Amino acid sequence: MAYAVPKPTDYSKEALEKAFTECVAACLTDAAAVHCDAELKAFRDRWMARKSGILTQVNELWLKGAPKEAKGLAGFWVNALKARITEIIDGAHVSGDDSAGAAESVDITLPGVRRPIGAEHPVMRTMHEIVGVFQKLGYSVAEGPVVETDYYNFEALNFPPNHPARDTQDTLFIAGQQSKPQRERLLLRTHTSPVQIRTMEKMRPPIRIVIPGTVHRNDPPDASHSPMFHQIEGLAVDTSITFGDLKGTLDHAMKALFGSSVKTHFRPSFFPFTEPSAELYVTCFICGGSGRRGPDDAPCRPCKQTGWIEVLGCGMVDPNVFEFVKDNGYDPKKVSGFAFGMGVDRLALLKYGVDDLQYFFQGDVRFLQQFG
Ligand code: DAH
Repeated sequence: MAYAVPKPTDYSKEALEKAFTECVAACLTDAAAVHCDAELKAFRDRWMARKSGILTQVNELWLKGAPKEAKGLAGFWVNALKARITEIIDGAHVSGDDSAGAAESVDITLPGVRRPIGAEHPVMRTMHEIVGVFQKLGYSVAEGPVVETDYYNFEALNFPPNHPARDTQDTLFIAGQQSKPQRERLLLRTHTSPVQIRTMEKMRPPIRIVIPGTVHRNDPPDASHSPMFHQIEGLAVDTSITFGDLKGTLDHAMKALFGSSVKTHFRPSFFPFTEPSAELYVTCFICGGSGRRGPDDAPCRPCKQTGWIEVLGCGMVDPNVFEFVKDNGYDPKKVSGFAFGMGVDRLALLKYGVDDLQYFFQGDVRFLQQFG
């Protein structure tokens, strides 16, 4: 039955307290019956409305109607009631809307939140593996800027301005550089070789360094090309480094990377910054060097049935390169050295049997998960 404010006949403490308790109980019952926003509003109005809400009626009947000598006590109970009713109304919410409660409680029967653990990207993993092999040989790691000057990327590596060898490494140039002298113009480095010069400017010989990093070329993306890719460069300079040291070091590195049964093979080549220059081939670690694989003797694609895979370019540092850093102890008459540079992405492709370079750069977790 709906609550109606009683008019007290007795203003004793006990009577007022009883009236207070009944009124609070009625309010709590009302609050529990709120099931929608409209009911919530009606509930509030019924109790709080200025004109004829229950609290206003209480004020009228209990306080204004009280005899003079009971006004103090009546005032006390009316104030206590107002505070309690306001509290109930402020806390009232549509029952069934348990969003606040749900957030606080924990359903221990639900499965937990799965946080997948990331894994090293296959290109980075290959890079770390290669760098690790050279670190064990006592090499340190050097790095340099990706946005490079023409001087470090070309000129100091013995690619003179306008020399046709530059055409083999077309890149992406930073716009608006025409007012600068050519050697200061900025471009995205086409190889990690400029860090050879940067390191020799800073460190006196002897040095043994590997240089991992990203490089760019003006190549449209396809299954074996990408305008951005990764290289690892190596450089060793000392007083009597020979081509024998180059061969021994790289033969060891290839066996450490691809297994002790691989054989290495050097073919003459050309790079402006090395003389003599060579390309290093290893016996195909997919077909084992036979050029054929599988039970049906299928032609081996990665080595194009030759049994050999080209892995890097290398050579003895050209004396012209040392001339650019001569003042820091690199007199070409006194020091000699070897250098090499390899494409990490291509090696990762071969290593993991991936047939399209683009997969490495699309960031598709379904692809990457396979390496986790
Ligand atoms: N920088 C060369 C390239 O990107 C690779 C290379 C060849 C690096 C021979 C070397 C080297 O240090 O000696 O094609």
